[in-house]
Amino acid sequence: MRKIKFFDTTLRDGEQSAGVNLNLQEKLEIARQLERLRVDIIEAGFPASSKGDFEAVKQIAETVRACSVTGLSRSVRSDIDAAWEALKGGAEPRLHLFIATSPIHMVHKLRMTPEQVIEAAVEAVKYAKRFFPIVQWSAEDACRSELPFLAKIVAEVIKAGASVINIPDTVGYITPKEYGEIFLYLQNNVPNIENVSLSAHCHDDLGMAVVNSLSAIEHGATQVECTINGIGERAGNAALEEIAVALHIRKDYYQVETRLNLQEIKRTSNLVSKLTGVVVPPNKAVVGKNAFAHESGIHQDGVLKEKTTYEIISPELVGVPSNSMVLGKHSGRHALRNRVEELGYTLSEEEINQLFIRFKELADKKKDITDDDLIALIFEEKFDHFKDFYQLSSIQVQYGTNQIPTAVVVLKDGKGNEIQEAATGAGSVEALYNTLERCLQTPVTLLDYRIESVGGGRDALAQVFVKVRAHAIETSGRGTAQDVLEASAKAYINAINRVFMIEAMRGENEKVATP
Ligand code: KIV
Ligand code: ZN
Repeated sequence: MRKIKFFDTTLRDGEQSAGVNLNLQEKLEIARQLERLRVDIIEAGFPASSKGDFEAVKQIAETVRACSVTGLSRSVRSDIDAAWEALKGGAEPRLHLFIATSPIHMVHKLRMTPEQVIEAAVEAVKYAKRFFPIVQWSAEDACRSELPFLAKIVAEVIKAGASVINIPDTVGYITPKEYGEIFLYLQNNVPNIENVSLSAHCHDDLGMAVVNSLSAIEHGATQVECTINGIGERAGNAALEEIAVALHIRKDYYQVETRLNLQEIKRTSNLVSKLTGVVVPPNKAVVGKNAFAHESGIHQDGVLKEKTTYEIISPELVGVPSNSMVLGKHSGRHALRNRVEELGYTLSEEEINQLFIRFKELADKKKDITDDDLIALIFEEKFDHFKDFYQLSSIQVQYGTNQIPTAVVVLKDGKGNEIQEAATGAGSVEALYNTLERCLQTPVTLLDYRIESVGGGRDALAQVFVKVRAHAIETSGRGTAQDVLEASAKAYINAINRVFMIEAMRGENEKVATP
């Protein structure tokens, strides 16, 4: 059977989703999880775009051993040099070079003639080959390019040393049949094409990214580029989990194999959703909350009699736990550590100690601590602590049906100074957020606010996600607590701390325009 490689670009194209700003620790955690999922290649970022991206790519390349780590690069020497510095410590360094090939991009964006584009592409591949054993070359906006020109430039970059050719549908414009035909055209019109692997990279503007990727596989592609939960620029990229499970369930049809560990899919999806703040719709294929729920009586009856009547994917295949382990107030540190490890999280001794304190506090208020509760606590301890910025000391909110809601908040800044303010609002959350805005003395626009419960029951934890804009930066934040107002305050502070962190890194961390 043909082997299909999975090239995951969650940390590069995925991170380009509006409002997504992952910090170094979050990127490393996602990279480790992608390694457990056994993707073949992790695109960890765009090293020349900012210091933050450079550092993240470098650390991921040095940490991950079971996958090839790559970074994106424009066709210029300075980008290639930065990428080599970031990637040279990796287990299998590879470079992802790109240049646009469509008339629209060449004329309006690059302002280069087709001959100049070929020259720049060839020169970049030759230069990159001095350092990198594997060079992947991408024709940006390939699907709106003229096919004879595309074939010509592909032939030239292969001669120059590229070993993977990627055909991106940058604007999500192509249809499955047309995309397949481009792959066939290249195989029939590029003399040295058998020396390279062909790769698909699809965006979802018309909702066809996954089906286009599958069409590419049917027409000769041996690599697919995708993101977890399909996150990415605009409508997103092709969703890794959907392609992977389609290839598995319909192996009879596609006749291909992958090296993925499908049981890590659900966990990877949860991690990416939590860290990016991008929610997975309940009806999303494979990873949505309702993907395995049978609502209609006829369906339920069928499934009870024989699962396969209405279930083509078993939840266990993608790692949806059939029963969640429960800890309680008598569980000790040892049981907690074991469960954390079983859930796939790596915590330092200090983090485990802090987590244990939080766990005991929660166990005093809540009888059963489920895996979801534990994951929420791990996130609070591991990712949501911005020790150098603001922390919530206390809140008090007064609400009554015939009363103006009023909040009093005490915050601590990074130097330990206390700030106390009070304000009113039309509702409790607004009063709280008006008060926080006063404490921070900076205008903050709330773009989105969502609340959900962690698991079920009256004593369930509340988890709040917000998206804010402050100082012209958009970020998201999350907060968990038993009380919805406390969770709301934590989410807001978490988002604001991210704004301040991005701002602190500004100047030395200015991003160049991403493709
Ligand atoms: O969509 C695109 O064209 C890209 C390239 C840089 C590969 O992301
Ligand atoms: Zn893309």
